[in-house]
Order: sequence, then C-alpha cells, then structure tokens
Amino acid sequence: MKAGILGTGHYVPERVLTNKDMEEIVETSDEWIRTRTGIEERRIAGDHEKTSDMAYKAAEEALKEAGITGDQLDLILVATVTPDQSFPTVSCKLQEYLGATKAAAMDVSAACAGFMYAMITAKQFIESGDYQHILIVGAEKLSKITDWTDRNTCVLFGDGAGAAVLGPVSEGKGILSFELGADGKGGKHLSQDGDFIFMNGREVFKFAVRQMPESAVHVVEKAGYAKADVDYLIPHQANIRIVEAARQRLDIAEDRVAININKYGNTSAASIPIALSEAAKNGKIKNDDLVVLVGFGGGLTWGAVALRWGK
Ligand code: UT7
Repeated sequence: MKAGILGTGHYVPERVLTNKDMEEIVETSDEWIRTRTGIEERRIAGDHEKTSDMAYKAAEEALKEAGITGDQLDLILVATVTPDQSFPTVSCKLQEYLGATKAAAMDVSAACAGFMYAMITAKQFIESGDYQHILIVGAEKLSKITDWTDRNTCVLFGDGAGAAVLGPVSEGKGILSFELGADGKGGKHLSQDGDFIFMNGREVFKFAVRQMPESAVHVVEKAGYAKADVDYLIPHQANIRIVEAARQRLDIAEDRVAININKYGNTSAASIPIALSEAAKNGKIKNDDLVVLVGFGGGLTWGAVALRWGK
C-alpha cells in the first residue's frame, strides 16, 4: 500500500507588489528582476494576516477536495520558517481551527524544502499503517523577515500557503520514490540573521542548479523510470534560471513544468504546494501522470519525490 495525494489547496494574499512597486522601495528595476529571476510580482500578507491564517485557508480547500473533514485527520504537519510564534505551532492552531480533534500536530523546519520533508514524513506514517489521513501544509509570511532595504533579497520573496491531504491510494498510484538531503556546511549561505533573511545569492544559485536537477533525476531512476517518462515537473520556485536548469537536465518540454514564480516570487515552503494545487486544478496533471516534485533551501536542505498521480 502506498501513500498518495487525496486533495490539494492553496491560498495567496490579495495584496500584489509589482516590480514597479519594488522600484519605489529599493534601487532596482523591473528589467533586472524579470531577467535575473523571472519574477514579475509577489503577494504580501496583510499586517494582521498570519501564517496560520493562510495555512488554514489552503488546508480547508485541500480537505474539501479530499472529501474529508478535520476530525478524520490523524496528523497535521506544517512546513514553515515563519510561524506566527515559536509555540504554539502553526500546526496546533490548524488542529483547533479545523476541528481535528484526534490529530497530532507539529511544525517541520526545513526552509524551502520543508514541504518535501513533511510529505515524506507523512508517507512513512501512512505506509506503516499507523495513520490514514495526514494534512501537510507549506505556509510562509516571508515579508515579516524580509529586509526591505536589501535589494539583494527583498525583490525575491512573497507570502502564501499550499496544502495537501495524504492517505492510502490504489495500487500503482502514490509516492514511488523519494530523496531527502542536508548539508549543514552550506548553512551560512542562506540564513535568518537576526531579524532578517541573509543570502549569498551566487553560492545558493550554484548549489541549486546542481542539486535540483540531480535530485529530480535520482527519484525518477529510483522509481524505475527514465527521464522521458516524466509527465510533469513541479520545482521549487526560487529563480526561473534554476527551474530552467532542472528542465533541461530532465529534457522535458516547457509546458510540462510548473512555473508561477512570475506571479508569486519565492514563497519558500509554500512554493511547491501552491504550484501543485494550481497544476491539479488547471488540468496540467492528470490521472496516472508521473509527477516529480523537487525543492531545495536553507540549511542547506533538499528533497524530491516521484509519484503516480491519482487516488
Ligand atoms: O529558496 C531559497 C533559495 N534562494 C535562491 O535560490 C536564490 C539563488 N540565487 C539567485 O537566484 C541569484 O543569485 C540572485 C537572483 C539572487 C542574484 O542573481 P545573480 O545573477 O546571481 O546576481 P549577482 O548576485 O551576481 O549580482 C549581480 C549584480 C550585483 O551588482 P555588481 O556587484 O555586479 O555591481 C548586484 O549588486 O546585480 C546587483 N543586484 C541588483 N541590481 C538591481 C542585486 N540585486 C539587485 C536588484 N536590482 N534587486
């Protein structure tokens, strides 16, 4: 028996900050941001809108799509580096909001790869037979740890949340293979330094263009498939040039790669589940498709999954 995705959901805040708006905040240009990153605009949460509020909206949609209610959940995992506070966790707040009376709850901290870590943790509990339904969420309010005077970082990030409900699926479907990894030595290149995000962009870029394609290829091979069998790729949305490197390495057509960095920027742990939910809703992924999800982030961390779509 394998664990698979029963439903997805996502939420992004209403407020849009365009590249033109960024030109008013720091010395930058729409042209620089577009060509170096692929970002055109990003969403910024309201002052009183918390990570848990965004997570709740994405989670509600995922539960609805999965056809279950909160009280059927056994576990809630929220991947975030921007929880409302260190405790109570965002996952405990969701446990209350969703009426998930029998669910255990914990947050997962693996930066932009957090959703992949949550997914693989959920898979273990389901495939052991201990749990039936697990809600996993990636939710971030990066705007609260963004240094709005640092043009190297502030143009890159956005807020939002994505969610999925995992459970047992029928034969042949579900998570076929995975890879998780970490390299603490590289942690200095991407960190929260004091109140804000610090990033050595060039070093992270070098790591990402190597690691993301490599992990994607690994999980395809581990699942017993060839690159040509991949129907859809959902990469972490950090930079269009990093996505393009992964696309070329997998030798996959442009229309089979999820791209929403233009609309949302880099939403860290939320980026993969937002893209997943959008792809599921707009018909980009279909029953029986071989889908690859791959992310990397601060830590350094990375994770990838190959799955056969469908219940
Ligand atoms: O999810 C977490 C992971 N984060 C990432 O994956 C980010 C990975 N890194 C990147 O995406 C890229 O390295 C960046 C987009 C952050 C930067 O692009 P780059 O092509 O590596 O630029 P750079 O850092 O080499 O900087 C080139 C120039 C510099 O000027 P000088 O020193 O050459 O005169 C920067 O000061 O661009 C300058 N610059 C900017 N100019 C206009 C940096 N940020 C900006 C900006 N607007 N916002």
